[in-house]
Amino acid sequence: RYADVSGLAVGHLGGSQEMKRLCVIPGDGIGHEVVPSAVRVLERLMPSLQVTEAEAGWECFQRHGCSVPDTTLKLMREYGAGLFGAVSSPAHRVEGYRSAILTLRQDLKLSVSLRPVRSWPGLSTRMDVNLLILRENSEGLYVGHEHMASADMAIAERHISRQASEHVAQRAAEVARLRDSQRITLVHKANVLPLTCGLFRDSCRNVLAAEGLAGLVDERLVDVAALQLIERPQDFDLLVTTNLFGDILSDLACYWSGGLGLAPSLNWGRGIAIAEPVHGSAPDIAGSGKANPLAAILSAALLLRYHWHAGLLADQLERAVELLLTELSVAELGDQTTDIIERELLKRL
Ligand code: NAI
Ligand code: MG
Repeated sequence: RYADVSGLAVGHLGGSQEMKRLCVIPGDGIGHEVVPSAVRVLERLMPSLQVTEAEAGWECFQRHGCSVPDTTLKLMREYGAGLFGAVSSPAHRVEGYRSAILTLRQDLKLSVSLRPVRSWPGLSTRMDVNLLILRENSEGLYVGHEHMASADMAIAERHISRQASEHVAQRAAEVARLRDSQRITLVHKANVLPLTCGLFRDSCRNVLAAEGLAGLVDERLVDVAALQLIERPQDFDLLVTTNLFGDILSDLACYWSGGLGLAPSLNWGRGIAIAEPVHGSAPDIAGSGKANPLAAILSAALLLRYHWHAGLLADQLERAVELLLTELSVAELGDQTTDIIERELLKRL
């Protein structure tokens, strides 16, 4: 489906002479609609981008008996950059099925998730939100170690390591410098979980102090943070937290950006990253042309800014989205949302 364009991206990446390669994994449902749209937009910004498609997800499992084939993992490792659409999950337990995105995050050590939330004209109910949630993406309660201790007692383990906590804090320092952040809020529940949350908080504090950023560090208990994200979201800049807390808080916060159609994310490892819209495969609208491609497109902007260090291109893309939403009302975007948004965005790039 994608043309392979070779050549050098001279000048397109702020002077970088290196040709960029992208492995795209549309997945299931609207992933097949929003990912191609995001790729066409990226190709406009980076004409020499080399794009190759790979399989993963539920349809892939039904075809090959595996949700992430080895060929996909190999290609991702080789390319170092990916754009993932969404995958469906069976509603009941299926023998041998493992969540595709969790497999990619774990096998490729994409141990930080970055989720920005900002106000967008025409969609947001307030215009002063601009925050970013950095979440540990590989451990916490999501290690998935559950067992029945007895017929009446289920136990889940929560793993917090110094190494993973320090890694997310190092990324936070990097992001804080890029964003010129005035405040870094560590979100935890160390009053109730002093060992796990305590280790997370102390590891983050140590790294941020070593980075010379101790003056920006602030803390919130997760329940208070949830309330304040609703009451005064404008007070937050960078939030750093553990896996489950970050999952919940980032979905909650994305309300301010106008909902799931506008919520991007980046799964961030060392030298490898996969951009991913926060939404799922949306089976209720798949095939209707109504899927909003902006979450996937804004995820591509995160790849540009944080993984490829092409901040100018990311700015250009985000400015075009802002212009589009300023100039066109939701009603004008009509029923064939995917096509119209892509066409109108390309005009404004
Ligand atoms: P969903 O995010 O797919 O859809 C929730 C609602 O939002 C639906 O009404 C949908 O039409 C709408 N929506 C989502 N993205 C949209 C977009 N880009 N434009 C316009 N409307 C959009 O979540 P749901 O329905 O809970 O899950 C559907 C499937 O997706 C399930 O199989 C679930 O397991 C999977 N899923 C996968 C995720 C991933 O791949 N990371 C994340 C969340 C769910
Ligand atoms: Mg989630």
